Amino acid sequence: MSSETEKVLVGVIGGSGLYHLDNLTFVKHVNPETPWGFPSSPIAICSLPSGTLVAFLARHGTGHTINPSAVPARANIAALKSLGVRAVLAFSAVGSLREEIAPGDFILPTQIIDRTKGVRPASFFEGTSIVAHAAFGEPFARGLVGWLESRVRAVLEEDGQAAVLAGKRAPQLHTEKCIVCMEGPQFSTRAESRMYRAWGADVINMSVLPEAKLAREAELSYALIATSTDYDSWREDEASVTAAEVFKTLQENARLSRHVAARILEELHGATVEGSLLKEEQGSMQYSIMPRSE
Ligand code: ADE
Repeated sequence: MSSETEKVLVGVIGGSGLYHLDNLTFVKHVNPETPWGFPSSPIAICSLPSGTLVAFLARHGTGHTINPSAVPARANIAALKSLGVRAVLAFSAVGSLREEIAPGDFILPTQIIDRTKGVRPASFFEGTSIVAHAAFGEPFARGLVGWLESRVRAVLEEDGQAAVLAGKRAPQLHTEKCIVCMEGPQFSTRAESRMYRAWGADVINMSVLPEAKLAREAELSYALIATSTDYDSWREDEASVTAAEVFKTLQENARLSRHVAARILEELHGATVEGSLLKEEQGSMQYSIMPRSE
């Protein structure tokens, strides 16, 4: 590893609409080949105003050419880990399953329901003789999510003032929410959408898994900043979600996501260097590997 990339402790994964970050000086692209192949896109190593380096990876490829079921999540997480990354901030567009979560709102989920099980390769240990059961009761790094809450809220409040002056609704932040990750590429039926609500899910996407599981296996702190684009298909008298509806909100959500990232990355890097956020998941796999019996 070159000395330039040695300090890359924070990685950002951009979702639909988020293909680059703002206020960063581009340093170089790296494209590490991992045992699981190449990441979705070359990783942009960028420098913050202080000179601190961060890594940015476009989950669906730089030209959005990879559908959620085909994202090489193992290569993505392994590639970030190989750069020295310890904390991953992932962004994703989501559908809302709750009236109060409007398009344009931000969500920091704390729980996940997996509807992709058995379809996507979800473990680094698959195909090996190692039997590992990572703890996943808390699927996101709690400390990191808690740290993000006040910072994201502050940025949204600032930005919201401008939105209100322009006669628009100010984006809200929702916390302690449950995200259901579905297999695409088609959106849910109305019956599925209502079922997810009955299960207690608040938002829906196609991308948080297996990414979050793999981050846990790699002992990386992982948090998702989700942005709502639509009301999925559960509302009785409304049309069900279409890609066109998702695209309508995507650009504005991406703009605000870039703004959030630009405002918090420097401080996040400092917080990871100083300790607890960096070490949150370190050693978490220690008791997850089943001992071999003789
Ligand atoms: N991503 C954005 N909106 C979505 C929805 N309604 N369902 C699944 N993934 C989504």
